Amino acid sequence: MNTVDFLVRKNRIGDTEMRETPDAPLQSGQIRLRVDKFALTSNNITYAAFGEAMNYWSFYPADSGWGRIPVWGFGTVFESRCPDVLVGESFYGYYPMSSCVVLQPVRSSPGGFFDGAEHRAALHAVYNSYTRCSTDPFYTPQTEDVQALLRPLFITSWLIDDFMADNHFFGASESTAGLMLLSSASSKTAYGTAFQLAKRAGIDVVGLTSAANLEFCRSLGCYHRLFTYDRLDQIAADTSCVYIDFAGNAKLRRAIHTRFANLKYSSSIGGTHVEQLGGARDLPGPRATLFFAPAQIKKRNTEWGADNLGQRLLLSWQSFVGKVCDPKEPWLVVMEHNGPDAVRRAYAEVLGGRGDPRVGHMLSLAPNTPA
Ligand SMILES: NC(=O)c1ccc[n+]([C@@H]2O[C@H](COP(=O)([O-])OP(=O)(O)OC[C@H]3O[C@@H](n4cnc5c(N)ncnc54)[C@H](OP(=O)(O)O)[C@@H]3O)[C@@H](O)[C@H]2O)c1
Repeated sequence: MNTVDFLVRKNRIGDTEMRETPDAPLQSGQIRLRVDKFALTSNNITYAAFGEAMNYWSFYPADSGWGRIPVWGFGTVFESRCPDVLVGESFYGYYPMSSCVVLQPVRSSPGGFFDGAEHRAALHAVYNSYTRCSTDPFYTPQTEDVQALLRPLFITSWLIDDFMADNHFFGASESTAGLMLLSSASSKTAYGTAFQLAKRAGIDVVGLTSAANLEFCRSLGCYHRLFTYDRLDQIAADTSCVYIDFAGNAKLRRAIHTRFANLKYSSSIGGTHVEQLGGARDLPGPRATLFFAPAQIKKRNTEWGADNLGQRLLLSWQSFVGKVCDPKEPWLVVMEHNGPDAVRRAYAEVLGGRGDPRVGHMLSLAPNTPA
Protein backbone atom coordinates (compact mmCIF):
# COMPACT_ATOMS: atom_id res chain seq x y z
CA MET A 1 0.00 0.00 0.00
CA ASN A 2 0.98 3.66 -0.30
CA THR A 3 0.99 6.42 2.34
CA VAL A 4 -0.18 9.92 1.46
CA ASP A 5 1.59 12.75 3.33
CA PHE A 6 0.61 16.42 3.39
CA LEU A 7 3.89 18.38 3.35
CA VAL A 8 4.50 22.02 4.16
CA ARG A 9 7.55 24.02 3.14
CA LYS A 10 9.23 24.86 6.44
CA ASN A 11 10.27 28.40 5.58
CA ARG A 12 7.07 29.28 3.65
CA ILE A 13 4.22 27.47 5.32
CA GLY A 14 1.71 28.52 2.66
CA ASP A 15 3.50 26.21 0.16
CA THR A 16 2.20 22.66 0.37
CA GLU A 17 2.53 19.36 -1.43
CA MET A 18 0.70 16.03 -1.30
CA ARG A 19 3.17 13.14 -1.64
CA GLU A 20 2.44 9.44 -2.06
CA THR A 21 5.11 6.84 -1.19
CA PRO A 22 5.03 3.03 -1.07
CA ASP A 23 4.99 1.53 2.44
CA ALA A 24 8.13 -0.23 3.68
CA PRO A 25 7.68 -3.55 5.53
CA LEU A 26 7.34 -3.17 9.31
CA GLN A 27 10.34 -3.88 11.55
CA SER A 28 9.92 -6.06 14.61
CA GLY A 29 8.19 -4.07 17.38
CA GLN A 30 6.49 -1.61 14.98
CA ILE A 31 2.81 -1.03 14.19
CA ARG A 32 1.11 0.64 11.25
CA LEU A 33 -1.98 2.76 11.92
CA ARG A 34 -4.49 4.27 9.59
CA VAL A 35 -4.85 7.93 10.67
CA ASP A 36 -8.65 7.92 10.70
CA LYS A 37 -9.23 11.64 11.31
CA PHE A 38 -7.54 14.66 12.82
CA ALA A 39 -8.37 18.22 13.84
CA LEU A 40 -6.83 21.32 12.30
CA THR A 41 -6.88 24.62 14.23
CA SER A 42 -4.56 27.62 14.61
CA ASN A 43 -2.67 25.62 17.20
CA ASN A 44 -1.34 23.40 14.41
CA ILE A 45 -0.45 26.45 12.34
CA THR A 46 1.57 27.66 15.34
CA TYR A 47 3.37 24.29 15.37
CA ALA A 48 4.40 25.03 11.79
CA ALA A 49 5.26 28.70 12.40
CA PHE A 50 7.50 27.73 15.36
CA GLY A 51 8.45 24.35 13.86
CA GLU A 52 12.18 25.00 13.80
CA ALA A 53 12.50 26.94 17.06
CA MET A 54 10.41 24.53 19.12
CA ASN A 55 11.19 21.21 17.41
CA TYR A 56 7.70 20.54 16.09
CA TRP A 57 9.16 19.34 12.78
CA SER A 58 11.13 16.67 14.62
CA PHE A 59 8.13 14.41 15.38
CA TYR A 60 7.58 13.36 11.78
CA PRO A 61 10.65 14.24 9.71
CA ALA A 62 10.35 14.71 5.94
CA ASP A 63 12.76 15.52 3.09
CA SER A 64 14.99 18.52 3.65
CA GLY A 65 13.09 21.80 3.46
CA TRP A 66 9.70 20.12 4.00
CA GLY A 67 7.81 19.31 7.20
CA ARG A 68 4.84 17.26 8.36
CA ILE A 69 2.68 19.22 10.80
CA PRO A 70 1.65 17.26 13.90
CA VAL A 71 -2.09 17.08 14.55
CA TRP A 72 -4.32 15.58 17.27
CA GLY A 73 -6.59 12.77 16.21
CA PHE A 74 -7.44 9.08 16.10
CA GLY A 75 -5.71 6.15 14.47
CA THR A 76 -6.56 2.45 14.12
CA VAL A 77 -3.93 -0.30 13.95
CA PHE A 78 -4.10 -2.35 10.76
CA GLU A 79 -0.71 -4.09 10.92
CA SER A 80 1.21 -5.05 14.05
CA ARG A 81 4.58 -6.57 14.80
CA CYS A 82 4.26 -5.57 18.44
CA PRO A 83 2.67 -8.13 20.79
CA ASP A 84 1.29 -5.41 23.13
CA VAL A 85 -0.80 -3.67 20.47
CA LEU A 86 -3.39 -5.53 18.44
CA VAL A 87 -4.78 -5.01 14.96
CA GLY A 88 -8.12 -3.19 15.24
CA GLU A 89 -7.25 -1.17 18.37
CA SER A 90 -7.76 2.62 18.22
CA PHE A 91 -5.59 5.30 19.82
CA TYR A 92 -5.89 9.04 20.43
CA GLY A 93 -2.67 11.00 20.02
CA TYR A 94 -0.28 13.14 18.04
CA TYR A 95 -0.25 12.07 14.37
CA PRO A 96 1.14 13.49 11.13
CA MET A 97 -1.19 14.90 8.45
CA SER A 98 -0.97 11.60 6.61
CA SER A 99 -3.09 8.62 5.66
CA CYS A 100 -1.00 6.14 7.69
CA VAL A 101 1.85 6.18 10.18
CA VAL A 102 4.36 3.71 11.60
CA LEU A 103 4.98 3.83 15.37
CA GLN A 104 7.13 1.76 17.70
CA PRO A 105 5.25 1.16 20.97
CA VAL A 106 7.28 1.09 24.18
CA ARG A 107 6.22 1.28 27.85
CA SER A 108 2.84 -0.25 26.91
CA SER A 109 0.12 -0.36 29.56
CA PRO A 110 -3.66 -0.86 29.49
CA GLY A 111 -3.90 2.94 29.04
CA GLY A 112 -1.73 3.05 25.90
CA PHE A 113 1.92 3.34 24.90
CA PHE A 114 4.73 5.76 24.04
CA ASP A 115 6.33 5.94 20.60
CA GLY A 116 9.88 4.71 21.14
CA ALA A 117 11.23 5.83 17.74
CA GLU A 118 14.81 7.00 18.22
CA HIS A 119 14.26 10.41 16.61
CA ARG A 120 11.53 11.17 19.20
CA ALA A 121 13.52 10.22 22.29
CA ALA A 122 14.44 13.79 23.21
CA LEU A 123 10.94 15.23 22.54
CA HIS A 124 8.41 15.88 25.31
CA ALA A 125 6.61 12.78 26.62
CA VAL A 126 3.19 14.49 26.42
CA TYR A 127 3.46 14.37 22.62
CA ASN A 128 4.93 10.85 22.45
CA SER A 129 2.07 9.15 24.27
CA TYR A 130 -0.89 7.38 22.59
CA THR A 131 -4.07 6.72 24.58
CA ARG A 132 -6.02 3.49 24.06
CA CYS A 133 -9.62 4.52 23.33
CA SER A 134 -11.12 1.38 24.90
CA THR A 135 -9.76 2.31 28.37
CA ASP A 136 -9.71 6.12 28.13
CA PRO A 137 -12.16 7.81 30.55
CA PHE A 138 -12.29 10.89 28.27
CA TYR A 139 -13.37 8.80 25.27
CA THR A 140 -16.88 8.36 23.95
CA PRO A 141 -17.51 7.43 20.31
CA GLN A 142 -20.00 10.32 19.94
CA THR A 143 -17.47 12.96 21.02
CA GLU A 144 -14.47 11.86 18.92
CA ASP A 145 -14.49 15.03 16.82
CA VAL A 146 -14.85 17.33 19.82
CA GLN A 147 -12.06 15.41 21.51
CA ALA A 148 -9.66 15.77 18.59
CA LEU A 149 -10.56 19.45 18.26
CA LEU A 150 -10.67 20.55 21.87
CA ARG A 151 -9.02 18.10 24.26
CA PRO A 152 -5.41 19.32 23.91
CA LEU A 153 -6.58 22.93 23.81
CA PHE A 154 -8.89 22.65 26.81
CA ILE A 155 -6.21 20.98 28.93
CA THR A 156 -4.04 24.03 28.22
CA SER A 157 -6.95 26.35 29.04
CA TRP A 158 -7.55 24.50 32.30
CA LEU A 159 -3.86 24.76 33.20
CA ILE A 160 -3.71 28.48 32.39
CA ASP A 161 -6.66 29.15 34.72
CA ASP A 162 -5.12 26.93 37.39
CA PHE A 163 -1.71 28.63 36.99
CA MET A 164 -3.29 32.09 37.39
CA ALA A 165 -5.25 31.05 40.49
CA ASP A 166 -2.21 29.25 41.90
CA ASN A 167 -0.30 32.53 41.59
CA HIS A 168 -3.17 34.56 43.13
CA PHE A 169 -3.68 36.26 39.76
CA PHE A 170 -0.33 37.96 40.28
CA GLY A 171 -1.95 40.41 42.67
CA ALA A 172 -4.33 41.74 40.01
CA SER A 173 -7.42 40.90 42.10
CA GLU A 174 -6.26 42.27 45.45
CA SER A 175 -8.14 45.55 45.70
CA THR A 176 -10.54 45.41 42.75
CA ALA A 177 -11.89 42.67 40.48
CA GLY A 178 -8.77 41.38 38.75
CA LEU A 179 -8.97 41.88 35.03
CA MET A 180 -7.82 38.98 32.88
CA LEU A 181 -7.32 40.29 29.35
CA LEU A 182 -7.41 37.59 26.66
CA SER A 183 -6.44 38.21 23.03
CA SER A 184 -7.83 36.12 20.14
CA ALA A 185 -10.89 35.70 22.34
CA SER A 186 -12.63 33.75 19.56
CA SER A 187 -9.98 31.00 19.59
CA LYS A 188 -10.87 27.69 21.18
CA THR A 189 -8.01 27.83 23.68
CA ALA A 190 -8.99 31.37 24.72
CA TYR A 191 -12.68 30.60 25.19
CA GLY A 192 -11.82 27.44 27.12
CA THR A 193 -9.70 29.63 29.42
CA ALA A 194 -12.50 32.19 29.72
CA PHE A 195 -14.96 29.37 30.54
CA GLN A 196 -12.76 28.33 33.46
CA LEU A 197 -11.84 31.86 34.65
CA ALA A 198 -15.49 32.99 34.61
CA LYS A 199 -16.28 30.46 37.35
CA ARG A 200 -13.98 32.30 39.78
CA ALA A 201 -15.20 35.04 42.09
CA GLY A 202 -13.64 38.50 41.80
CA ILE A 203 -12.28 38.00 38.29
CA ASP A 204 -13.26 40.17 35.33
CA VAL A 205 -12.81 38.16 32.12
CA VAL A 206 -12.27 40.52 29.21
CA GLY A 207 -11.78 39.41 25.62
CA LEU A 208 -10.13 41.17 22.69
CA THR A 209 -11.01 40.04 19.19
CA SER A 210 -11.35 41.21 15.59
CA ALA A 211 -14.53 42.96 14.47
CA ALA A 212 -15.63 39.93 12.43
CA ASN A 213 -15.55 37.66 15.49
CA LEU A 214 -17.07 39.98 18.10
CA GLU A 215 -20.62 38.61 17.80
CA PHE A 216 -19.42 35.03 18.03
CA CYS A 217 -17.51 35.84 21.24
CA ARG A 218 -20.60 37.56 22.67
CA SER A 219 -22.72 34.52 21.89
CA LEU A 220 -20.48 32.32 24.04
CA GLY A 221 -21.41 34.16 27.24
CA CYS A 222 -18.14 33.35 29.01
CA TYR A 223 -16.61 36.83 28.68
CA HIS A 224 -17.79 39.58 31.03
CA ARG A 225 -16.75 42.22 28.49
CA LEU A 226 -15.49 42.20 24.91
CA PHE A 227 -13.68 44.76 22.76
CA THR A 228 -12.26 44.85 19.28
CA TYR A 229 -8.49 45.27 19.05
CA ASP A 230 -8.76 48.98 18.26
CA ARG A 231 -10.80 49.77 21.41
CA LEU A 232 -8.25 49.26 24.18
CA ASP A 233 -9.04 52.85 25.19
CA GLN A 234 -12.37 51.55 26.57
CA ILE A 235 -10.52 49.89 29.46
CA ALA A 236 -9.27 52.25 32.20
CA ALA A 237 -5.50 52.65 31.95
CA ASP A 238 -4.97 52.23 35.71
CA THR A 239 -6.75 48.83 35.84
CA SER A 240 -4.88 46.04 37.61
CA CYS A 241 -4.63 43.33 34.99
CA VAL A 242 -2.97 40.25 33.56
CA TYR A 243 -2.47 39.80 29.82
CA ILE A 244 -3.12 36.26 28.53
CA ASP A 245 -1.88 36.41 24.96
CA PHE A 246 -3.15 33.92 22.37
CA ALA A 247 -2.60 36.22 19.38
CA GLY A 248 1.16 36.81 19.68
CA ASN A 249 0.60 40.11 17.87
CA ALA A 250 3.70 42.22 18.61
CA LYS A 251 2.01 45.59 18.05
CA LEU A 252 -0.95 44.71 20.28
CA ARG A 253 1.34 43.39 23.02
CA ARG A 254 3.30 46.65 23.00
CA ALA A 255 0.07 48.69 23.12
CA ILE A 256 -1.14 46.70 26.14
CA HIS A 257 2.18 46.93 27.99
CA THR A 258 2.32 50.65 27.27
CA ARG A 259 -1.28 51.47 28.27
CA PHE A 260 -1.67 49.50 31.48
CA ALA A 261 0.61 50.82 34.23
CA ASN A 262 -0.73 48.12 36.57
CA LEU A 263 -0.09 45.20 34.26
CA LYS A 264 0.90 42.53 36.78
CA TYR A 265 1.85 39.69 34.47
CA SER A 266 2.08 38.99 30.74
CA SER A 267 1.65 35.39 29.66
CA SER A 268 2.50 34.35 26.09
CA ILE A 269 0.38 31.37 25.10
CA GLY A 270 0.24 31.40 21.32
CA GLY A 271 0.53 33.18 18.00
CA THR A 272 -2.72 33.06 16.05
CA HIS A 273 -1.89 36.36 14.30
CA VAL A 274 0.77 34.64 12.18
CA GLU A 275 1.40 37.70 10.06
CA GLN A 276 1.95 40.04 13.04
CA LEU A 277 4.24 37.97 15.24
CA GLY A 278 7.36 39.62 16.59
CA GLY A 279 9.85 39.90 19.43
CA ALA A 280 9.01 41.08 22.94
CA ARG A 281 12.20 43.01 23.73
CA ASP A 282 12.28 46.36 25.59
CA LEU A 283 8.62 46.28 26.56
CA PRO A 284 7.33 48.50 29.34
CA GLY A 285 6.10 46.57 32.40
CA PRO A 286 6.59 42.88 33.15
CA ARG A 287 8.52 40.56 30.88
CA ALA A 288 6.31 38.62 28.45
CA THR A 289 6.69 35.06 29.77
CA LEU A 290 6.12 31.90 27.75
CA PHE A 291 3.47 29.66 29.33
CA PHE A 292 4.77 26.12 29.65
CA ALA A 293 1.81 23.80 30.29
CA PRO A 294 3.90 20.69 31.20
CA ALA A 295 5.47 22.59 34.12
CA GLN A 296 2.03 23.22 35.70
CA ILE A 297 1.01 19.58 35.09
CA LYS A 298 4.20 18.42 36.80
CA LYS A 299 3.58 20.74 39.78
CA ARG A 300 -0.02 19.54 40.25
CA ASN A 301 0.97 15.91 39.73
CA THR A 302 3.42 16.26 42.61
CA GLU A 303 1.02 18.19 44.87
CA TRP A 304 -2.25 16.37 44.14
CA GLY A 305 -1.18 13.03 42.63
CA ALA A 306 -1.89 11.94 39.05
CA ASP A 307 -5.28 10.35 39.86
CA ASN A 308 -6.62 13.44 41.61
CA LEU A 309 -5.41 15.72 38.80
CA GLY A 310 -6.89 13.36 36.17
CA GLN A 311 -10.24 13.34 37.97
CA ARG A 312 -10.37 17.15 38.19
CA LEU A 313 -9.51 17.46 34.49
CA LEU A 314 -12.13 14.89 33.53
CA LEU A 315 -14.92 16.65 35.47
CA SER A 316 -14.02 20.05 34.00
CA TRP A 317 -13.79 18.51 30.51
CA GLN A 318 -17.25 16.95 30.82
CA SER A 319 -18.74 20.24 31.93
CA PHE A 320 -16.99 22.09 29.05
CA VAL A 321 -18.10 19.54 26.43
CA GLY A 322 -21.66 19.78 27.73
CA LYS A 323 -21.59 23.52 27.05
CA VAL A 324 -19.76 23.33 23.72
CA CYS A 325 -22.10 20.64 22.36
CA ASP A 326 -25.34 22.08 23.75
CA PRO A 327 -27.68 21.30 20.82
CA LYS A 328 -29.62 24.54 21.39
CA GLU A 329 -26.58 26.83 21.15
CA PRO A 330 -23.46 24.86 20.17
CA TRP A 331 -20.11 26.66 20.46
CA LEU A 332 -18.65 24.30 17.89
CA VAL A 333 -19.98 22.96 14.61
CA VAL A 334 -17.88 20.24 13.00
CA MET A 335 -17.02 20.37 9.31
CA GLU A 336 -15.43 17.31 7.65
CA HIS A 337 -12.81 17.47 4.88
CA ASN A 338 -11.99 14.08 3.38
CA GLY A 339 -9.34 13.38 0.75
CA PRO A 340 -6.29 15.29 -0.56
CA ASP A 341 -8.09 18.19 -2.26
CA ALA A 342 -10.37 18.87 0.67
CA VAL A 343 -7.42 18.70 3.10
CA ARG A 344 -5.44 21.18 1.01
CA ARG A 345 -8.37 23.61 0.96
CA ALA A 346 -9.03 23.28 4.70
CA TYR A 347 -5.37 23.98 5.46
CA ALA A 348 -5.44 27.16 3.36
CA GLU A 349 -8.58 28.30 5.18
CA VAL A 350 -7.21 27.70 8.69
CA LEU A 351 -3.87 29.31 7.73
CA GLY A 352 -5.72 32.38 6.44
CA GLY A 353 -7.60 32.63 9.74
CA ARG A 354 -10.64 34.36 8.33
CA GLY A 355 -13.10 31.47 8.67
CA ASP A 356 -16.10 31.11 10.96
CA PRO A 357 -14.75 30.64 14.51
CA ARG A 358 -17.69 28.38 15.34
CA VAL A 359 -16.47 25.79 12.82
CA GLY A 360 -14.12 23.01 13.89
CA HIS A 361 -12.32 21.39 10.96
CA MET A 362 -11.92 17.59 10.97
CA LEU A 363 -9.70 16.23 8.21
CA SER A 364 -8.85 12.79 6.84
CA LEU A 365 -6.45 11.41 4.25
CA ALA A 366 -7.30 7.84 5.14
CA PRO A 367 -8.22 5.51 2.29
CA ASN A 368 -11.91 4.64 1.95
CA THR A 369 -13.10 7.81 3.67
CA PRO A 370 -15.99 9.29 1.69
CA ALA A 371 -14.81 12.53 0.01
N1 LIG B 1 1.30 27.11 24.80
C1 LIG B 1 0.50 26.07 24.68
O1 LIG B 1 0.70 25.06 25.33
C2 LIG B 1 -0.69 26.14 23.77
C3 LIG B 1 -1.63 25.10 23.76
C4 LIG B 1 -2.78 25.22 22.95
C5 LIG B 1 -2.92 26.34 22.12
N2 LIG B 1 -1.94 27.31 22.15
C6 LIG B 1 -2.06 28.46 21.26
O2 LIG B 1 -3.31 29.12 21.37
C7 LIG B 1 -3.60 29.76 20.13
C8 LIG B 1 -5.05 29.45 19.76
O3 LIG B 1 -5.14 28.16 19.20
P1 LIG B 1 -6.55 27.50 18.78
O4 LIG B 1 -6.22 26.23 18.11
O5 LIG B 1 -7.42 27.53 19.98
O6 LIG B 1 -7.05 28.57 17.70
P2 LIG B 1 -8.38 28.65 16.81
O7 LIG B 1 -9.57 28.25 17.58
O8 LIG B 1 -8.15 27.99 15.50
O9 LIG B 1 -8.36 30.25 16.62
C9 LIG B 1 -9.01 30.90 15.60
C10 LIG B 1 -8.91 32.40 15.88
O10 LIG B 1 -7.53 32.85 15.84
C11 LIG B 1 -7.44 34.12 15.17
N3 LIG B 1 -6.70 33.89 13.92
C12 LIG B 1 -6.42 32.68 13.40
N4 LIG B 1 -5.66 32.80 12.29
C13 LIG B 1 -5.46 34.10 12.11
C14 LIG B 1 -4.76 34.86 11.13
N5 LIG B 1 -4.09 34.28 10.12
N6 LIG B 1 -4.77 36.20 11.24
C15 LIG B 1 -5.42 36.80 12.25
N7 LIG B 1 -6.10 36.11 13.24
C16 LIG B 1 -6.12 34.80 13.14
C17 LIG B 1 -8.87 34.58 15.00
O11 LIG B 1 -9.23 35.14 16.27
P3 LIG B 1 -9.40 36.69 16.67
O12 LIG B 1 -10.13 37.33 15.55
O13 LIG B 1 -10.23 36.58 17.94
O14 LIG B 1 -8.01 37.22 16.93
C18 LIG B 1 -9.58 33.24 14.83
O15 LIG B 1 -10.97 33.32 15.09
C19 LIG B 1 -2.61 29.21 19.08
O16 LIG B 1 -1.60 30.16 18.79
C20 LIG B 1 -2.00 28.02 19.80
O17 LIG B 1 -0.70 27.74 19.40
C21 LIG B 1 -0.86 27.21 22.94
